Amino acid sequence: MRKRQTDFVGPGTIRLLPRVLKRYCPKRVFLVAGSTSYRASGAETFVGQALSSTNTVLHIARTPLPTIEAISEAMTLFLEEHCDMVVAVGGGKTMDIGKSVSALASQTRGASDYVVANRPMAPRSIPIIAIPTTAGSGSESTHFAVIYVKGKKYSLTHKSLLPDGAIVDPNLMRSLPAHITATSGMDALCQAIESYWSIHATRQSRWYAARALRLAADNLATAVLSPSPESRIAMARAAHFAGEAINITRTTACHAISYPLTSRFGIPHGHAVAVTMPSMFLFNSAVTASDVIHPRGPTFVRRQLRSLARALGAESPEGAARTIEALMQSIGLSTSLSAFGISRQDLNDIVQTGMTPERAGNNPRALTASSLYRILEKLL
Ligand SMILES: [Fe+2]
Repeated sequence: MRKRQTDFVGPGTIRLLPRVLKRYCPKRVFLVAGSTSYRASGAETFVGQALSSTNTVLHIARTPLPTIEAISEAMTLFLEEHCDMVVAVGGGKTMDIGKSVSALASQTRGASDYVVANRPMAPRSIPIIAIPTTAGSGSESTHFAVIYVKGKKYSLTHKSLLPDGAIVDPNLMRSLPAHITATSGMDALCQAIESYWSIHATRQSRWYAARALRLAADNLATAVLSPSPESRIAMARAAHFAGEAINITRTTACHAISYPLTSRFGIPHGHAVAVTMPSMFLFNSAVTASDVIHPRGPTFVRRQLRSLARALGAESPEGAARTIEALMQSIGLSTSLSAFGISRQDLNDIVQTGMTPERAGNNPRALTASSLYRILEKLL
């Protein structure tokens, strides 16, 4: 895995951006920024100052999702303007666009050859620094980017997708609206859980995931309902650690199912992931020798689930599921699919789109189309 050169995590670290940029001596920086978060987060002031003596091309990412069209548009501008570095400031979507541009700009073919046709990519030569303004996706820590093509979710995956550096400054998250704090925070919490039970989990990934989960479980409600500097700092760290964890393991079933919920029904990513988490917690806890995928067997998986339950302050997987539901309700997130206009007629389509082997295959218990259908049916 390509090792990042720089990670700065903590309040005030955005002030270190000029020092970070100096390492790359860029002639023309391509600055990708979120449409509202850039100004609202205060990043505009600090990033603007840091780049005041550097030629900069500002590109505002306006689409709600990181679509291939949005990435192609950004890449065209990057190439036309002869930029030689990317700085991505925003949430997961904005960072994924910036990461994709930096990686795809070094390739000889168009974006869809690598995203859809999965052609092998050459290593990236364009440096990129990622600066999150939400505490959720952890995209600044991962070597993949989500890209939607005609409503279907793809992953651009290469070691080059991992940014050269990240600046995670919770001060940039102070102005986050409560609803975005809630949905992005649930993304971090679920990424930690999914990473922990993933069949690819390692000792190191579990360390990151456990740390992220405790931070998120202890601080998310406060960060949403009465945000304090401490809770913002904790959630920024939780998201970053969860990103480090999934960078090793990838995500599992809840993320697989989330993509059609987001692209077809507009459910924000973190909410779309969280809505199936209580059910998936119970589903995985019922793993048996005949349906286990995890190479260490069902007893190990059940032990992992008990550890996760304890980290959530619960005694059992059933208690953990109730705790997650209660947390979602307390921060204003619906726990039912019908709240989004989803009905029984939609379920087959969601199941077919969500059952990607890439993510569902990482789940510790085999997930069949009929078991997924039953899970979704109970959430109506
Ligand atoms: Fe996620």
